[in-house]
Amino acid sequence: MQPEHSPSTTDNPIPLCIPEIQGNEWLYIKDCLDTGWVSSVGAYVDKFENALRHYTGAGHAVATVNGTAALHVALLCAGVGPEDEVLVPCITFIAPANAVRYTGAWPVFIDVEDRYWQMDPQRVDDFLRRGCVYRNRQLTNKTTGRRVAAILPVHILGHAVDMDPILELAHRFELPVIEDATEGLGAKYKNRPLGTIGDIGCFSFNGNKIITTGGGGMIVSNNPDWAEKARYLTTQAKDNPIEYIHNEIGYNYRLTNLQAAMGCAQMEMLDRFVAAKRRIASYYNDHLSKVKGIILPNESPDTFSTFWLYTIRVNERDYGMDCRGLMKKLANRNIQTRPLWQPLHCSPAHASSPKIGGEVAQRLFNEGLSIPCSVGLPTTHQKQVIQAIDSYATN
Ligand SMILES: Cc1ncc(COP(=O)(O)O)c(C=O)c1O
Repeated sequence: MQPEHSPSTTDNPIPLCIPEIQGNEWLYIKDCLDTGWVSSVGAYVDKFENALRHYTGAGHAVATVNGTAALHVALLCAGVGPEDEVLVPCITFIAPANAVRYTGAWPVFIDVEDRYWQMDPQRVDDFLRRGCVYRNRQLTNKTTGRRVAAILPVHILGHAVDMDPILELAHRFELPVIEDATEGLGAKYKNRPLGTIGDIGCFSFNGNKIITTGGGGMIVSNNPDWAEKARYLTTQAKDNPIEYIHNEIGYNYRLTNLQAAMGCAQMEMLDRFVAAKRRIASYYNDHLSKVKGIILPNESPDTFSTFWLYTIRVNERDYGMDCRGLMKKLANRNIQTRPLWQPLHCSPAHASSPKIGGEVAQRLFNEGLSIPCSVGLPTTHQKQVIQAIDSYATN
């Protein structure tokens, strides 16, 4: 069961973002145990896929072992292969860039815009029009000579990327769009659920996501051929299940019935979780707006954000302390926070990949701090966080 929510003490920290497990999880998982359907086929896998399909309005959904696997397979479905290039934002969790490398392709890191911190469509435009040549329906990076094969926008922190200009460019240069909506389940762009706007979308259900299956992922698409390919590749590319004939290299990337059972229970709560996240964000906005040097996250009029991970910026000059300093102070009070991810163009793991800009991502890395925002965060805890942040402001 979830720990009791009581005021934070030394023994009872305020965590950054923990799962909310208060529904039918026990019932459905027990059903798997009682019936013996625990592995990667079973009624809950089908139900969970259907639940995602209905929620997002996508034509097809394929459950996967995690979000990274979903991205890997989505890239393969989109035809990305060795020595291709894929546009990925400079700042995100590393998984999409790694997934690009699994295919043998290279990420090209595109800086984010300053207001909503998402992949900057203007940078995408500049790179595709000026940094590439389009000949015989193929786009080639002028600097590396490699084929540009896809765009992979990542909707970070529960907010949407400005997709329309990206879709327009994708259409013009005939590039597939793979949406990393792993942090965006429940969020919308111009009233369209994230994950369904590009050609194929990916979700994650790891422990800190808005719903969790412990670990898990999902691919959604309106393209029946790609969905079929995704199902095929995630089940070891089995062409004949009786004789075990495999015509391609596949992957063991399916979700188990046990995890899907948890997913079904979590999906029943998703709308409530989104409402709770938005309530928490609004309460933080109301109170932290009064603290000089704390810059609040913006919500674009085009986006319905889940504020999946509520993230502030700490302006050192105005606040009197930098983001890392504040993180340490809050840790001393048992309040867990986390800076944003190291920009990928600075990551030693991706040192050989090209980048377009990166200054905005660097600034976000310096200043961004995610603060406690679990769905079940009690107001008493939230008040403690606000009071602690306010207490260190020197101006
Ligand atoms: C933006 C982003 N992409 C991909 C992933 C990978 O998902 P998973 O951890 O389920 O592999 C995550 C989360 O971990 C993520 O935040």
